[in-house]
Amino acid sequence: MSVLISYSDLEVRYKNGIGLSFPGFEVDKGTHCLILGDSGTGKTTLLHVLCGLMKPSSGIVTVAGVDIYGLSPKRMDQFRGQHVGLIFQQAHLIKSLTVLENLKMARWLAGLGENTSELSVILERLNMGDKIKSYPHELSQGQLQRAAIARALVNRPRLLIADEPTSALDDRNAEAVIALLLEQAQSYGATLLIATHDKRLKDKFSSTYIL
Ligand SMILES: Nc1ncnc2c1ncn2[C@@H]1O[C@H](COP(=O)(O)OP(=O)(O)O)[C@@H](O)[C@H]1O
Ligand SMILES: [Mg+2]
Repeated sequence: MSVLISYSDLEVRYKNGIGLSFPGFEVDKGTHCLILGDSGTGKTTLLHVLCGLMKPSSGIVTVAGVDIYGLSPKRMDQFRGQHVGLIFQQAHLIKSLTVLENLKMARWLAGLGENTSELSVILERLNMGDKIKSYPHELSQGQLQRAAIARALVNRPRLLIADEPTSALDDRNAEAVIALLLEQAQSYGATLLIATHDKRLKDKFSSTYIL
């Protein structure tokens, strides 16, 4: 099995002096990996570093054989747009667009054509079928989170990264979200990396890394 994402000897330093270190880690292509840790242990920081949003003060991050911090900012944005689906704690949806329009925009930005029926299926699966025409401000916290998940899935990224995807969800919707993420990852061979403090997820992953 080949390695999709790896890092070694990462050091991250925030301006206020807080320093975090992450010794090293490899995720094989096609696997589903859970990063488990209590609040404040550095999960969000690590995900930001792994997807190219935050340069570490030292250490190397390799995604699909590419040293991502060796790329120019423009190439890095392209690389992320094409290969990485990100689901953050705060859903970054465009406020003036409906849920469906947000998904269409994500496909367009990645250079993919429209596929409204596939987008509807993804929304249905997330119990969001009746929110297709809603604007972000009309959604609850949990619905916003599921819309953000749908948006990350529409480009069929080879690497799906999610930060606390279930934290605002009740058991039923947490189940639905994890089932969909696992199934989507499985069906097109994507690698799934989820960071969470939600211990409900522990049994669903073969590989767990504790921070
Ligand atoms: N922008 C920031 N500036 C300064 N310190 C930060 C910043 N973001 C996070 N931290 C600190 O880094 C540590 C790890 O935070 P974070 O990565 O958000 O952890 P987690 O996601 O596991 O809760 C915490 O001590 C937090 O206070
Ligand atoms: Mg976090």
